[in-house]
Amino acid sequence: MDVACLMKLVLMLWITLITSIKSDPSDEACLTHLNKSLQDPNKSLENWNEATFSKPCNESTSTLKGILCNNGRIYKLSLNNLSLRGTISPFLSNCTNLQTLDLSSNFITGPIPPELQSLVNLAVLNLSSNRLEAIRVIGSPLGFRCIE
Ligand SMILES: *[C@@H]1O[C@H](CO)[C@@H](O)[C@H](O)[C@H]1NC(C)=O
Ligand SMILES: *[C@@H]1O[C@H](CO)[C@@H](O)[C@H](O)[C@H]1NC(C)=O
Ligand SMILES: *[C@@H]1O[C@H](CO)[C@@H](O)[C@H](O)[C@H]1NC(C)=O
Ligand SMILES: *[C@@H]1O[C@H](CO)[C@@H](O)[C@H](O)[C@H]1NC(C)=O
Ligand SMILES: *[C@@H]1O[C@H](CO)[C@@H](O)[C@H](O)[C@H]1NC(C)=O
Ligand SMILES: *[C@@H]1O[C@H](CO)[C@@H](O)[C@H](O)[C@H]1NC(C)=O
Repeated sequence: MDVACLMKLVLMLWITLITSIKSDPSDEACLTHLNKSLQDPNKSLENWNEATFSKPCNESTSTLKGILCNNGRIYKLSLNNLSLRGTISPFLSNCTNLQTLDLSSNFITGPIPPELQSLVNLAVLNLSSNRLEAIRVIGSPLGFRCIE
């Protein structure tokens, strides 16, 4: 293998590495839409902004309030008791590694998006103490633990 070829190969590997380090586009879509569908009158999530949504995780840590990460992906969203209003975005289903979703004790209204059923890793879903419409995901075959 000549030097030029080798350098090309190294460059290609490097580009692949850089793109794989970049955060997951679906976590970004998830946060961007959630930020739009919720309102935060008490400014509890003041460090939530579009700039950080493109890379919410650094391996297991996140600078964003209420977010825990694992292997660079969001796995826990704990936004309980923050006086949040608005609705649950169906794009939450884009947080495909989500294991815990806690939106309890807020003033969230509207339906529970059926899209959430595609979150196959979701083990804990706590939507208690909100103003949601009839809960329909109870008894889902995916083994959700649903708390009203
Ligand atoms: C995000 O979720 C929407 C609605 O469920 C879906 O149509 C879209 O394909 C998803 N996008 C990504 C990047 O996962
Ligand atoms: C969404 O982001 C804006 C800043 O871009 C912020 O002011 C607002 O509080 C955020 N909303 C939520 C629900 O975090
Ligand atoms: C990510 O976390 C590691 C270890 O905690 C730290 O050394 C590194 O500077 C962080 N990177 C960014 C971009 O924050
Ligand atoms: C909810 O938040 C309010 C205001 O910060 C606080 O007084 C209250 O103790 C919290 N309730 C729970 C159950 O954490
Ligand atoms: C949000 O603000 C309202 C009005 O100022 C206050 O009653 C409530 O306790 C606050 N909620 C939290 C979670 O801090
Ligand atoms: C669900 O949220 C409510 C209110 O924040 C809390 O009292 C309850 O313990 C939570 N349940 C679980 C299983 O985390």
